[in-house]
Amino acid sequence: MDAVRTEHKWTKGQPRADGSERSVEIGKLPDDVWEHHAVMPWSKERAGYPTQKPEELLRRIIAASSNPGDIVLDPFAGCGTALVAAHQLGRQWIGIDISPTGVNLMKRQIQRRAGAENIKLVGMPVTEAQLRELKPFEFQNWVIDRMNGSGSPRKSGDMGIDGLSFLLHEPIQVKQSSGIGRNVVDNFETAVKRSGHTKGYIVAFSFGKGAYEEAARVKGAEGMVIELLTVADLLEGKADLVTPETGLFSVDLPMPEPRAPESLPSVEELIASETGQELGRVAEAEELYDPSN
Ligand SMILES: C[S@@+](CC[C@H](N)C(=O)[O-])C[C@H]1O[C@@H](n2cnc3c(N)ncnc32)[C@H](O)[C@@H]1O
Repeated sequence: MDAVRTEHKWTKGQPRADGSERSVEIGKLPDDVWEHHAVMPWSKERAGYPTQKPEELLRRIIAASSNPGDIVLDPFAGCGTALVAAHQLGRQWIGIDISPTGVNLMKRQIQRRAGAENIKLVGMPVTEAQLRELKPFEFQNWVIDRMNGSGSPRKSGDMGIDGLSFLLHEPIQVKQSSGIGRNVVDNFETAVKRSGHTKGYIVAFSFGKGAYEEAARVKGAEGMVIELLTVADLLEGKADLVTPETGLFSVDLPMPEPRAPESLPSVEELIASETGQELGRVAEAEELYDPSN
């Protein structure tokens, strides 16, 4: 507890009721109510997590309840504030979170805020089967993160743009389904055109022949490139994308900025996105096209 003693304020120099002297140097033991400001919007430690706690508060809790070298376990680690504080104070740490988005975010926070290296991620989705099981929001984040893109600043329902590519900010659409048909590519062309770009990406588990034909048609007719990326491409890192795997960057790139609350999808938009998946499933009956043949 000595690690979290606080300064005597009005009691400075005042003797106790029994006449004994207070030690101003070592400070007073903390009360059962601690005051601390929230993480400010402009704070460098802010990760965009809605329930993020201040690092200083976690440092106080960890300093008061453990010794250097001890292991701190946070089983609901969120953006990793407790782990950042633990690392800063020379503790070992283990963080758990059900959300892969949270795990990626906490890794970056621990690297950025505490300078930790050799962080081991265990149990992250690494196969197509696991990625199919993710919630739509988690899958979308996985794709955008994998492409080093950023979240779309517009409302997600707007023109079906789920994210923007790294550096050039070209539109990305994410479909957590297979056998994507011609109609999806057709609709996305309009979205890309309206965004003022001549290139966009659609990411899905697989595409039907019609999708490839439509992408080829629009390239020939209008010079617009709609790149059809499969999840397998992203897993293998063979897509023509700027990712850390290319060795261009020695440090992880920042996570996409969090979406403004007003740009979060409405219930209707989420239902509509489910309907899009239905389209994808119907299209699965369409002949699958293997571009390598
Ligand atoms: C309130 S946040 C923690 C924020 C953290 N205190 C910080 O300041 O960074 C709670 C976290 O618990 C995670 N969570 C919820 N249910 C879980 C479960 N069953 N197992 C593991 N993590 C879970 C959520 O994904 C969320 O990231």
